Amino acid sequence: MSNKQQILRCEVILQKYGKALSGKTVLITGVSDDSIAGELAVQLARADPALLILTARAESKVVRIQEKIKSKKPNVKTRFLHMDLSDLSAVREAVKEINDVPHIDHLVCVAGVMFPPHGKTKDGFESQLGVNYLANFVLVKLLLPKVRVAGPSSSIVIMASSMARQGKMHFDDVCFSDGKTYDPMVAYGQSNAARVMFVKRLGEKLCDEQIRVFSVDPGAVQSGLQRHCPPGFLDQVAEWKKAGPMVDLDGNTFDIPPWTGTSEGAATVITAMIDPTITGYNGSYLNQNAISDHELHTHLRDSNNWTKLWGLSEVLTGETFSL
Ligand SMILES: NC(=O)c1ccc[n+]([C@@H]2O[C@H](COP(=O)([O-])OP(=O)(O)OC[C@H]3O[C@@H](n4cnc5c(N)ncnc54)[C@H](OP(=O)(O)O)[C@@H]3O)[C@@H](O)[C@H]2O)c1
Repeated sequence: MSNKQQILRCEVILQKYGKALSGKTVLITGVSDDSIAGELAVQLARADPALLILTARAESKVVRIQEKIKSKKPNVKTRFLHMDLSDLSAVREAVKEINDVPHIDHLVCVAGVMFPPHGKTKDGFESQLGVNYLANFVLVKLLLPKVRVAGPSSSIVIMASSMARQGKMHFDDVCFSDGKTYDPMVAYGQSNAARVMFVKRLGEKLCDEQIRVFSVDPGAVQSGLQRHCPPGFLDQVAEWKKAGPMVDLDGNTFDIPPWTGTSEGAATVITAMIDPTITGYNGSYLNQNAISDHELHTHLRDSNNWTKLWGLSEVLTGETFSL
């Protein structure tokens, strides 16, 4: 088992395990020029997948990524898929658009938002919960049949964040009293807690089918994500770093990771997709290319919370997800 945490670039993981991607079909959400998902798409293309389905809110977001892939790997097919995760009906429409795709070997849900001012999705959910988590719940449910066709060693990977370590489900008020008690950092923490706990339960359920399921903390990655940060946020992070370690909900300390580029952020996603040494740890949370469940606080490890979250997600989205 790979248990030594290391910040690595994609090339290192691909060199070790990249052959497993040859001829595969991969769907990636959140593709744009400066995003982790955009870098992931370009990097995966090096391993000769058959088809990369690149989802975004607008085709203009993926065009340059498609061009980069075409210039280096003309044989790798790419396909733009319109998907707005702030609208569950758009997620359902997007799934219908790929009816002709018989199987998906790797479903990689990277898209997300961080610390936006209070807003609601089309379905009325607080936006970070809706985009970062509930849309993934629906997407995974609707695409699971195609992942099942791909069979053992296929994967479902959900991006999360170290902010899960300070996050929990506010089960009594997941939408923060319609914004009245909204705190962008608390809501981002909640959405990441949801991502991690959903993966825990999903990984448990799909273990016997040998479908790989992992959540990923990509580290602190310079990307488009910082666009919603309040002014002075990066200075604030520097101050926090100087002040010493952060504290999780159990009172355990942890360090804010160093800033990296998108290749380092995408590397742990590739580890989740194909590293054969972690297959026995389905449902786990990965950080710096290694199983990192020891970093999760009690609320995240409590399987009663996974059950409660699953039930709540079914009610909120109107999608029964029985496995
Ligand atoms: N960067 C970090 O340090 C860091 C750390 C921990 C976790 N993460 C996680 O990593 C993921 C990717 O972040 P990133 O750093 O690559 O940020 P990014 O550059 O902002 O990329 C996020 C992507 O998600 C897309 N997206 C946002 N809202 C969407 C919606 N409603 N529907 C469809 N797509 C939407 C964005 O598209 P638009 O351009 O259209 O908005 C963009 O392509 C996020 O889930 C984030 O929580 C990042």
